[in-house]
Amino acid sequence: MHMLITGKTKVVGVAGWPIKHTLSPQMHNAAFQALGLDFVYVPFGIPPESLGGAVGALGDLGIVGMNFTIPHKLAVMELVDELSPEAEAIGAVNTIAAREGKLFGDNTDGRGFVMSLKEELDMDAAGKSFVVLGGGGAARGVAMGLGFAGAKSVVVANRTESKAVKIADDLAKVRECHVAVIGNDGEGLRRAVEEAEVLVNTTSLGLHDGDPMPIAPELLHEGLSVCDIVYNPPVTPLLKAASERGLANANGLGMLVHQGAIAFELWTGVYPPADVMRKAITED
Ligand code: ATR
Repeated sequence: MHMLITGKTKVVGVAGWPIKHTLSPQMHNAAFQALGLDFVYVPFGIPPESLGGAVGALGDLGIVGMNFTIPHKLAVMELVDELSPEAEAIGAVNTIAAREGKLFGDNTDGRGFVMSLKEELDMDAAGKSFVVLGGGGAARGVAMGLGFAGAKSVVVANRTESKAVKIADDLAKVRECHVAVIGNDGEGLRRAVEEAEVLVNTTSLGLHDGDPMPIAPELLHEGLSVCDIVYNPPVTPLLKAASERGLANANGLGMLVHQGAIAFELWTGVYPPADVMRKAITED
C-alpha cells in the first residue's frame, strides 16, 4: 500500500499496550485510501503509566483522533473533556476525537455490534429481544448498544451472576428496556433463550480449541439468530451448531469493522465502506 504523507496529512491512531497485533491500522488506512482522504492511522504502544502524558500531548501533536484498546479503555475516561452518553453508560472509552481543542470520548463497540446486525443479518435491534451471554467488558458494550438502539428486552446471563446483575442494573438506569439476569440455572437460561430472537455470545468460549460451548446447542431453536463476538476462529462451535440448524448467524468481524467505521466517521465525517475495511483485515 502506498500512502503519501505530507505536512497536511491528519494523524489518528490506536493506543494500546502491547500493540503489535492490532488490525486497526490496516483497516483504517485501507478506507482512507479508498476514499482519498489525507489521513494516516498509526499504532502507538503506550504503557499504562504513560497514558496521561500521551493523551495530554495529543493536542500539541495535532493528532485528531485515537482509538484505545487493552489496557486503556477505563483509564481514558478520566482524561477527556466530554463523554458521550454511551461511553458513560458502558464505563469505558474506545475512541476520542479532538474538537475545538477539547477531547470528546466515545465508545463505539455497542453501536458497532448494532451496525453489524444490520449489515450481516439485515436486522434492526429496535424492538427485538436478546440474550447476551457473558459479563465482561464486551457484554457490557453489547448490552448497552442494544439498549441504546431500542431493543425490547436484554437478558444478561453469566457464570458470575454478580457481573451480569451490575450490567443489567446499569442498563436499566439509562434506557427503558426490559432487562433481566439469569445466573447458572439451566432452566432460566432455557426459558430466556426460548423467548429470545437473538442470542449473542460475548464470553471468551470459542476462542480456543477444545473450549466448551457457551450454551447447550439443543437450546438453539428455529427462528433464533446467533451472534458470536469471537472472529478468530471465524466459525466457533456455537456458530457451526447454528449453521447446522439453518439459523442466521454472524461472527464478531462485523462488530470489529463497524466499531472502527463509527470512529472513522467521528474523525472524518464520512462513514467508510465496510467491505473495504473487512477485506483489509481478512486478506493478506
Ligand atoms: P471481555 O472484556 O472481552 O468481555 P472478560 O472480562 O475476560 O473479557 O470476560 C470474559 C467472559 O467470558 C466473562 O463473562 C467470563 O465469565 P465470568 O464473568 O464468570 O468470569 C466468561 N467465561 C470465560 N470462561 C468461561 C467459562 N469456562 N465458562 C463460562 N464463562 C466463561
